[in-house]
Amino acid sequence: MTPLLMTPGPTRVPDRVLAAGAMPMVHHRSEDFSGLLMSAVGRLRPLFGTRGDVLPVHSTGRGALEAAITNLFSPGDELVAVCNGRFGEMWAEIAERFGVVAHRCCEDWSVSAGAPEVEAALDAHPRSRAVILAHSDTSTGALNDVAAIAGVARRAGALVMVDAVSSLGGAPFCFEEWDVDLAVTASQKCLMSSPGLAFVAIGARAWEAQKTARLPRSYFEFAAIRKSLARARPETPGTTPVHLVAQVKAALEQIEEEGLERVYDRHEKMARMTRSAVTELGMSLQCPDLERLSPTLTAIRAPKDLSPAVIRDQMRSRGILVARGLGRFEPTCFRIGHMGDIRPADVRRTLDALGDIVAAGARSRPLQRVRG
Ligand SMILES: Cc1ncc(COP(=O)(O)O)c(C=O)c1O
Repeated sequence: MTPLLMTPGPTRVPDRVLAAGAMPMVHHRSEDFSGLLMSAVGRLRPLFGTRGDVLPVHSTGRGALEAAITNLFSPGDELVAVCNGRFGEMWAEIAERFGVVAHRCCEDWSVSAGAPEVEAALDAHPRSRAVILAHSDTSTGALNDVAAIAGVARRAGALVMVDAVSSLGGAPFCFEEWDVDLAVTASQKCLMSSPGLAFVAIGARAWEAQKTARLPRSYFEFAAIRKSLARARPETPGTTPVHLVAQVKAALEQIEEEGLERVYDRHEKMARMTRSAVTELGMSLQCPDLERLSPTLTAIRAPKDLSPAVIRDQMRSRGILVARGLGRFEPTCFRIGHMGDIRPADVRRTLDALGDIVAAGARSRPLQRVRG
């Protein structure tokens, strides 16, 4: 039996989205496909909170994060990287691989990234051309305050680039209102589709930076993607993963039917249910001091007498998949994703199972690891 995917991506793909991904092949240069592509792109704009460019990038999220670096920077350029989680760190590492100097700030994973700290980093490194950060850092469950950080970046004349891979579609994102320059998401989390397709929202200042950026790029050239999309019959460079586009369109239709605000409320509700259960079961969040928590996942510190690996194994034996901790939290943490097509009833089932496991642990029953 397929386990219930309570992981922070990939997430359960609803039946109608699976069906869209099983349609007969449509040619990626056909009018039918152009319509499909533009419908998906158009439907994504309200999730990003932009009326501007949204580019499909044939890659998972990491490829689009890399493309964001190669399209906007030249070798030796500097940026400030908000590193209060694994995904903030990961983006900084990608930039460094390409010869961009990343000044790390907010390196304490247990607290929210503060705009004053980012401002201090920008003051200390006035040549920084951008601030890069994760909106929801999937390793900790932090929801960083993009609006406040964008405010200080703007005052310093730096671009604001956001990894919204684990938030877009599950938490409000306001590209224009927050004055963001570039944001990245991917198909397999709140967009309830198979992995393999990313999307990048990009604004006027970022396009300006793109014109002079000298890092090498070819397949991921944003200007070429924009040009292909602007054709009379819109398309993408290369052979488009047409079924992924069809899935994302179907998923976005489902989101529209539910209503975006209701979707956000459902995510908040599921996050609250999870946090309450954590307290009721005598456990703690992995980072209880975070000021703002992501509605799409919860990172939980396992009780002292119960390892996270045992919890995950026992959850799996009950047909429920939860995720391991990441980076420095791997030894202590497990993560529950409550995003995309996941419903409060799925969360209830997960928390009930967790309650049973913790209660059994408290009674000090010998726990056997399940293989697989
Ligand atoms: C916040 C965040 N950024 C980036 C990524 C990497 O995306 P992908 O696995 O699609 O390459 C993930 C994946 O978990 C993520 O959660």
